[in-house]
Amino acid sequence: MFESLRLSDLPKRSHGILRGPSCTKPTIWLVKEAGARAVVKDYSTGKPLYRNIIGRFLVWRESKAYKRLRGLRGIPTFYRVIDGLALVIEEIPGRSLKKHEKELKLPKAFFDVLKDIVDNFHRRGLAHCDLKHIPNVLLGSDGLPYVLDWNASISEKEFRFFPLNLIFRRFLLDDYMAIIKLKLQYIPETVTPEEKRRYHHRCPVEKGVRAINYRLRKIFKNSNKPSVY
Ligand SMILES: Nc1ncnc2c1ncn2[C@@H]1O[C@H](COP(=O)(O)OP(=O)(O)O)[C@@H](O)[C@H]1O
Ligand SMILES: [Mg+2]
Repeated sequence: MFESLRLSDLPKRSHGILRGPSCTKPTIWLVKEAGARAVVKDYSTGKPLYRNIIGRFLVWRESKAYKRLRGLRGIPTFYRVIDGLALVIEEIPGRSLKKHEKELKLPKAFFDVLKDIVDNFHRRGLAHCDLKHIPNVLLGSDGLPYVLDWNASISEKEFRFFPLNLIFRRFLLDDYMAIIKLKLQYIPETVTPEEKRRYHHRCPVEKGVRAINYRLRKIFKNSNKPSVY
């Protein structure tokens, strides 16, 4: 699917842009082919140094994660990488969730399905690590959750030796904390006091891991704010 798509074709082949070019964020193009729709997460529009070092690394990380997640519900289908600089991924009709979105109410079932999705990708040996960044969860037009943006994810295999195994476990937990964070925003009345306590509790190891996570994110994504917190 989308085998003939080239980076130079994107301006004329795309039927829309979800996010325009910036120095450090990929351009998100919308493309269609034979009835299928895809987004192209394209780092080729960034500055040369960023695109060739960070961009290629992030594309490699994200494509590796998507290949491992193939076939799981709630995860878009991954089609291909173009020239090491762009990912072609199934477009999920719907919209990303937003921070401080007060007007939208989501049913409890949405979060039950999200918990299943998280359980399933953990079983495949991946921690997402950026699920607390709310726009990485998409509300599909079918009313179901979808999880996007896998370039910060880590695998159990890479983190199997001490002390990395402890860090991996911490990130598994952090994915579940992200569900509590979303519930606090969308259905706070269902969050139990125990969940609230767990969500607000920070042990020293966690603070350290968060600080490292925050710094890495700033380097790789040039984000001004921590995505957790
Ligand atoms: N497969 C997809 N289907 C629909 N929208 C998507 C898809 N992938 C990304 N998007 C939209 O583009 C935004 C940015 O994509 P994302 O992968 O999170 O990039 P970044 O790493 O720059 O945060 C998402 O928040 C979402 O709104
Ligand atoms: Mg994102």
